[in-house]
Amino acid sequence: MHSLKREIETLKKEKKAVILAHYYVPDDVQEIADCIGDSFYLSKAAKETDAQIIVFAGVSFMGESAKILNPGKKVLLPDPTADCAMAHMADPKKIQEMKEVHPDLAVVCYINSTAELKTYSDVCVTSANAVKVVKALPNKEIFFIPDRHLGSFVAEQVPEKQIFLNDGYCPVHHKITPEDVRWAKAAHPEALCFVHPECPEEVVALSDYAGSTSGIIKAVEQSDAKEFLIGTEAGVLYELKKNNPDKIFHLVTPEQCCYDMKKVTLEKIRDCLRDESNEVHVPEEVSKKAAKAMERMLELAK
Ligand code: 13P
Ligand code: SF4
Repeated sequence: MHSLKREIETLKKEKKAVILAHYYVPDDVQEIADCIGDSFYLSKAAKETDAQIIVFAGVSFMGESAKILNPGKKVLLPDPTADCAMAHMADPKKIQEMKEVHPDLAVVCYINSTAELKTYSDVCVTSANAVKVVKALPNKEIFFIPDRHLGSFVAEQVPEKQIFLNDGYCPVHHKITPEDVRWAKAAHPEALCFVHPECPEEVVALSDYAGSTSGIIKAVEQSDAKEFLIGTEAGVLYELKKNNPDKIFHLVTPEQCCYDMKKVTLEKIRDCLRDESNEVHVPEEVSKKAAKAMERMLELAK
């Protein structure tokens, strides 16, 4: 075994730590993780673990979410500068204005958001449970923050509710265009196109399946097709290829890379575990309010 990986293994045992990793981090990090998953799976794993130290191989909102669900545990981020641009794309003033104009409104906050934004919301969602949670809410009017594309995907699936959209987006998925899909389909006419709902609506409309990262992984496994065009972050190819060695995968475009997720390296994992550095702190008041929205999600998504 690679000596760095051995060092991480030894440190992990010594400190009774667990490494949680999102599907978008580099392949060698996914290889050494105890749990790999999408945002929903990882938030449940963070809640259920007995480990006293959680190393979160992902971006800062993920580390914050793990800390909010486990205030008594030590959560370490291998690279605290790994941030998600979309996590900041909602304005508390706008949320307040919407609540004043629509008093029965529920603010539904995608988990890809800062802890502070979560405090203004009634419930959190991930891409894997957003439709289920929005359907389960008693409110007819919903303000969906921060991702406008996931918001409009949910609006399409839940037509009985009025969903107001915010103007945030994930720069990685937002960049994929309908022309990209048409080009990719022309180049690989046998392939099915599976995309993430963070992609623009026109891209989702051209796809054969749209769903969360884990949804895409499951849908590929259940499909009889042999070739796929994948419209989400490139890191997911590691799991797709591992589980389906006989299937062929192409990205819709070569640019589907989240550079923040790629900041997480084995060296940084070793260092933060060894030094117990880069601990995530969420102010108590913020944490308590954000926890309510996250716990409500876990309850409604059961
Ligand atoms: P999921 O993990 O919910 O599929 O979200 C994708 C994403 O962009 C995570 O940063
Ligand atoms: Fe944020 Fe998009 Fe990167 Fe996910 S892929 S962390 S939503 S920028």
